[in-house]
Amino acid sequence: MLILENVGELFLPAASGAPVRNDCEVRSLRGAYVCVEGGVIVDFGEGSSPLAEGDIIDARGGAVIPGLIDSHTHLVFAGTREDEFAMRCGGKSYLEIAKAGGGIQRTVAAVREASLDELVELALPLLGRMLSYGVTTVEIKSGYGLNVADEIKMLEAVRKLSELQPIELIGTYLGAHTLPAEYRDRRDAYVDLVVSDELMGRVAAEGLAEFCDVFCEESAFTVEESRRVLEKGKEFGLVPKIHADQITQMGASRLAAELGCVTAEHLEHIDEAGMVALAEASVIAGLIPGCSFYLGVPQAPARKLIEHRIPIAVSTDYNPGSSVVESLPLVLSIACTQAKMAPSEALIGATVNGAAALDRSKRLGRIEKGMQADLVVLDVPSVDQWLYQVGRNAVATVIKNGRVVCTN
Ligand code: NIG
Ligand code: FE
Repeated sequence: MLILENVGELFLPAASGAPVRNDCEVRSLRGAYVCVEGGVIVDFGEGSSPLAEGDIIDARGGAVIPGLIDSHTHLVFAGTREDEFAMRCGGKSYLEIAKAGGGIQRTVAAVREASLDELVELALPLLGRMLSYGVTTVEIKSGYGLNVADEIKMLEAVRKLSELQPIELIGTYLGAHTLPAEYRDRRDAYVDLVVSDELMGRVAAEGLAEFCDVFCEESAFTVEESRRVLEKGKEFGLVPKIHADQITQMGASRLAAELGCVTAEHLEHIDEAGMVALAEASVIAGLIPGCSFYLGVPQAPARKLIEHRIPIAVSTDYNPGSSVVESLPLVLSIACTQAKMAPSEALIGATVNGAAALDRSKRLGRIEKGMQADLVVLDVPSVDQWLYQVGRNAVATVIKNGRVVCTN
């Protein structure tokens, strides 16, 4: 038995199930305890634990929250693109740089050069830092290989990383990230490859991914192409999700609703029809406030999405181009200051709704009896104080599956 004592605030959204509305009531317990046995939360409440036998962790009045869930990243890659960062600071846009041969294509070239072991070596320290910020579950996409060998290599790197460190990792197949240069005049042939038995079929058969994603965007794949990829993914048992309405508005959110995607992510340019469609089809909005911050572009309309009763998940979208922002707590603070989400609304996006975005809400994302004990002890007494201290790591202890895996 592991007992967390002297907890300043225990973060408990009152709405049941998952996902939940981010503006739901939060019933925080103050002066609380949590008991963990066999990797599972067995009891919690106000005051001291009635079960006194076990290893005690004194939270020293710090808040305790569920382990954070980063439901959208591209963190397996090679190379860096700081020259693009400098160009953007000088006024060039992400799209202009991509059209001039920069962007995703550059990382594709670097990933194709790298070995599986090199990809693992590059991602491992990053995952260590993410753990230290309280992140216990991370989704990782392929999409920088764009051929059979290199897409599989990326997803195998994710699998290997799962064995080497405590964060639970979930693979997403993003063969449709961008059109590789060698297919410039053969779009259909590339989409054929993306949905082929040889690639998509193998990813599914080997259990290398649970989700299938598409970058539905003027500079990447059309609505028609995206529909084809995600429908075929469904046939292979891959759950559909989509990069939608990030740079231009072409109806990607409506496609997400039509296909029953679990999430539509980014949404900086979502329109009213897209919001109505997501709400009706119960699609989660995956917001990436750190990406807008990093690129210096407007935020997705978080408040309007909340008004439409669309549940929001919040993630880093960590990648070498549009979001070199590894700290999910920093992203939550950005969600508060730039997208005008309340701290509790942002945190729901990285816990309850993050779990739902990754189809793990029966086990992860909440402090509840019977849930897996993924818990974070903060060195500040409240969630509000944590996110108010923008950019400081206030995490004291990280518990994954009932085991202490990090102390800062
Ligand atoms: O989520 N939108 C597409 N993909 C990434 C960017 C990837 C890159 O620039 O390398 C994103 O923003
Ligand atoms: Fe992304």
